[in-house]
Amino acid sequence: MEVIKSHRPTQSPEIDPSTLSNYTQFSINNTKLHFDISFDKKIVIGSAEYDLIKKSSQINTIELDTSYLTINKIIIDSIEIKDFQLHKRQEPLGSKLSIPIPTTVPSSFKLSIDFQTTEKCTALQFLDKEATDGKKAPYLFCQCQAIHARSLFPCFDTPALKSTYTLSAKSPLPTLMSGRPLPKTQDNLYNFTQPVPIPSYLISIASGDLVNAPVGPRSDVYSEPCKIKACQWEFEHDMENFIQIAEKLIFDYEWLRFDSLILPSSFPYGGMEIPNLCQLTPTLICKDRSQVSVVAHELAHSWSGNLVTNCSWEHFWLNEGWTVYLERRILEGIAIAEARDKGWENPEEYGESVRQFNAIIGWNDLENNLKSMGDDVDKYSTLIQDLKKGEDPDDAFSTVPYEKGFNLLFHIEKKVGGKKVFDKFIPYYFKTYRYISLDTYQFIDTLYDFFKDKTQELDSIDWDKWLYQPGMPPVDPKFDTTIADKCYHLAGKWYGYTGGKQVPPNTFSEDDISEFNANQSVIFLDTLISYGKVESFNWNQNQDLLKLMESTYKEYNQTLNAEILFRWYYLQVSGERPEFKTKLGEWLGTVGRMKFVRPGYALLNQVDRELAIYYFKKFEMSYHPICRAMVKKDLNL
Ligand code: BES
Ligand code: ZN
Repeated sequence: MEVIKSHRPTQSPEIDPSTLSNYTQFSINNTKLHFDISFDKKIVIGSAEYDLIKKSSQINTIELDTSYLTINKIIIDSIEIKDFQLHKRQEPLGSKLSIPIPTTVPSSFKLSIDFQTTEKCTALQFLDKEATDGKKAPYLFCQCQAIHARSLFPCFDTPALKSTYTLSAKSPLPTLMSGRPLPKTQDNLYNFTQPVPIPSYLISIASGDLVNAPVGPRSDVYSEPCKIKACQWEFEHDMENFIQIAEKLIFDYEWLRFDSLILPSSFPYGGMEIPNLCQLTPTLICKDRSQVSVVAHELAHSWSGNLVTNCSWEHFWLNEGWTVYLERRILEGIAIAEARDKGWENPEEYGESVRQFNAIIGWNDLENNLKSMGDDVDKYSTLIQDLKKGEDPDDAFSTVPYEKGFNLLFHIEKKVGGKKVFDKFIPYYFKTYRYISLDTYQFIDTLYDFFKDKTQELDSIDWDKWLYQPGMPPVDPKFDTTIADKCYHLAGKWYGYTGGKQVPPNTFSEDDISEFNANQSVIFLDTLISYGKVESFNWNQNQDLLKLMESTYKEYNQTLNAEILFRWYYLQVSGERPEFKTKLGEWLGTVGRMKFVRPGYALLNQVDRELAIYYFKKFEMSYHPICRAMVKKDLNL
């Protein structure tokens, strides 16, 4: 533990460097948030009412985060505050709003702010009706994580401070927010309550031509009417099973309902863990249920992230690493149940091999991600991140907190004696920190505290390397490759014919992949792509082989699974096949998920900058503002 001592901040949880607010000086009893949506002006006009408690009598200002907001009126108790100050913008954190507190105000008081968003709002995307699937009505959705809530409403925009919420929205269209729906009190007025304290980044609003359908006893799915049936089919098989497996592993689901909203294609992420209403990319609706793992992930956030929260984005792995760990345990549980149903021997062993197979995919993602980081690798690939110079958390975003985080937990699990032993720690940890926010040091202290009889084992973990060293995890996990081997073998066979070697007839056939599940195709394609990253080898000298692959595995050109299609295009484009450059370019106009859009443009840019810019200019305005900004940075525009 010596090493951690030398890095340890003087206080835990560590101060959040990504906020300009003075959040440490207050607690919030409840927040009342109202949004009035104007589809015409493409803005939200709102009010925020905070029940605040000062932590000491010396405090005489409230400092909040804002970003491109207009502040209309501020009232403390019943006194209008005219001398508030909206400071000059400080990139990327925004403009601090300073509000003096009148001396007559008691330590517990009400702060009300009337505000409105501007067209520069980075959290919201307004879609004209032509840009929606149904083309019947406009649509609004929102993405606040990590630091975009401040562009939607003035707030202490930090994951370190939580509040319960009373939420409402006025809109001509069905509207959803981050809480439990309450009965409507007026036409066009939608009410919600969030009785579990949550941080600002979990606030969300969506409004459009939305309908819902049941997918489980406590779960509905929402989408535009034209695809509601497809959405229902995609999720109804797994939803309740996921929840029950998670409950067994951790403890009861506390949020009452777990609904999902399928967003338009410009949604910039795969999923977002909005409490009570996880938000999902439409690329999950691929008609074979092969992408439901994203739902398991967002569900797991109901404990890791939404109940127990990282205190700042420097400790983001506590949210995502834990969530990936839980997601893989949920998928393991599903595999065990499936094996039991089918009467297979050793269902547990099978479940474990599925878990490790999923971990291999993650490990490969991590390797690829690190390779593409270039000069940023030292800065952004440590598990605990350093954002103290006001770096943009969106710039720091990568698979590192996900996969290095997962691997640390997997390593700890092994060190303390395996799953059965580690499982006792899971509910303990989540109960200890629910409703609050913590840093990595508190996590480790709690671990040592719980496993008092295993100090030696825990001390044998090289914490310094895990937490502060850039690059791949310091320990090779030696994952079980039983399921992956077939994929490696087939990829190796193709690689064997590179360099212009003659391929004898019938060497390859469509049967090679007919038994692969979606994830096996992912590993197969990842392996092929990874050969191209070896210096002495380039797929563009093997275009004939890529052509043969295309005519042999016809299903890859037609797949609805974006994970497969993206890798397929990526492989072909890295071989610089002209028709695939266009295919990829056009496809980038149909997806808004940054996981595909960013590396897609980066690859096009590598092989044909002009084409990359052509497509980006063509589709730019259809992307969510966050995605647009990131691709612009990636392409140096
Ligand atoms: N909370 C994240 C998405 C996110 C992270 C948004 C950081 C903004 C800033 C979400 O839970 C997530 O991890 N989504 C993944 C899903 C995947 C790991 C299954 C995604 O979008 O790909
Ligand atoms: Zn996540």
